[in-house]
Amino acid sequence: MKDHRVLSGMRPTGRLHLGHYHGVLKNWIELQNEYDSYFFVADWHAFTTHYSDKIDLEKNVCEMVVDWLASGINPNTSTIFVQSKVPEHAELHLLLSMSTPLSWLERVPSYKDQQLQLKTKDLATYGFLGYPLLQSADILIYKAGLVPVGEDQVAHVELTREVARRFNYVYGRESDFEEKAETAASKMGKKQAKLYRSLRKSYQETGDDEALIKAKALLGEQKNITLGDRERLLGYIEGVGKIILPEPESLLTKASKMPGLDGQKMSKSYNNTISLRDEPAEVEQKIKRMPTDPARVKLTDPGDPSKCPVWQLHEVYSLQETLDWVVEGCTKAKMGCIECKTPLIKSVVDELGPMQERIAKYQSDSNLIQEIIFEGSERARVVAKETMEDVRDAMGLTY
Ligand code: TRP
Ligand code: SF4
Repeated sequence: MKDHRVLSGMRPTGRLHLGHYHGVLKNWIELQNEYDSYFFVADWHAFTTHYSDKIDLEKNVCEMVVDWLASGINPNTSTIFVQSKVPEHAELHLLLSMSTPLSWLERVPSYKDQQLQLKTKDLATYGFLGYPLLQSADILIYKAGLVPVGEDQVAHVELTREVARRFNYVYGRESDFEEKAETAASKMGKKQAKLYRSLRKSYQETGDDEALIKAKALLGEQKNITLGDRERLLGYIEGVGKIILPEPESLLTKASKMPGLDGQKMSKSYNNTISLRDEPAEVEQKIKRMPTDPARVKLTDPGDPSKCPVWQLHEVYSLQETLDWVVEGCTKAKMGCIECKTPLIKSVVDELGPMQERIAKYQSDSNLIQEIIFEGSERARVVAKETMEDVRDAMGLTY
């Protein structure tokens, strides 16, 4: 299965809510059926902004993994792991830091934005400046092709591409690179090698993008060359040397349509969330307290759904029939807001019900969760170790 590897991570900084579910997890769940998927808890990343807070990491990490599983992430097809259980990430981060210009990190938008947003914290730290590079290491160490992220993270994937390109350029030049590449080409068989060489020539001489695409596809089809040779041959087409760390692409997740209780985007920092673990009574209370169109003071005052946060939730949860019922009842002042909220409460409670049953099941079996994290991290580590061998080798660190 699955030519591309998908990788994404989440910081364990609090309870998951419906925004995470609709905005991130549902997307991961779709991807895991199509790709070789790696999902991890970015526990080290939590320290880049919360280094002085006492976070109960063990509890947060376990709860997060439980919520992932209860949402439908499948530990048999996806690799679920915890960053700090794969310490190779730190080694790659260190090595990449040697060749990463400070200016690349300083111009990542989140660097200045977050310092402004989190004014109460002193974020003039080395770790905070470097955190997008740690993220690059997270991605590159799995040679991930696709990184599903939200808009705010695209710049980090872009940085990752630049970091990879520079690394390949600086360290991909084996002294006998050309010779090795030629030998590798021959291993494809006469006919294929000839095709490869002519595509390479045409790309190098005329910059023919078609030829590049065809050559890459040709390499993708080869069964009897090693991964190392494939990377060498890829690099040889473009004349850059061996590609040790392939450049990933971001897979932009459409902005979550999940509105919070106040109509702003659902987010912990706005205090407008419904948690995946909120009990029915809590859900009911939260929705009942939602503000509505301020024009509707009395039942007889007509309202305008477009001015009402409750309507936005209906747009996520309700079928056309219910939507029509809301518009009719609201604009013609035929029903009160509590009545309007009733089907919504039911929809959310019904959505969370089965999830909460699974949460309870997993939560009562902490050994199982430990095991899933342990096994996933071991699986991830095998891949991470392989990449580190290539990296050390390229940098001359295997003496
Ligand atoms: N920085 C991401 C966030 O704050 C989390 C993250 C860490 C991540 N490493 C990653 C996401 C690698 C994708 C890939 O949301
Ligand atoms: Fe909002 Fe519904 Fe009340 Fe209209 S009737 S203001 S849509 S809660």
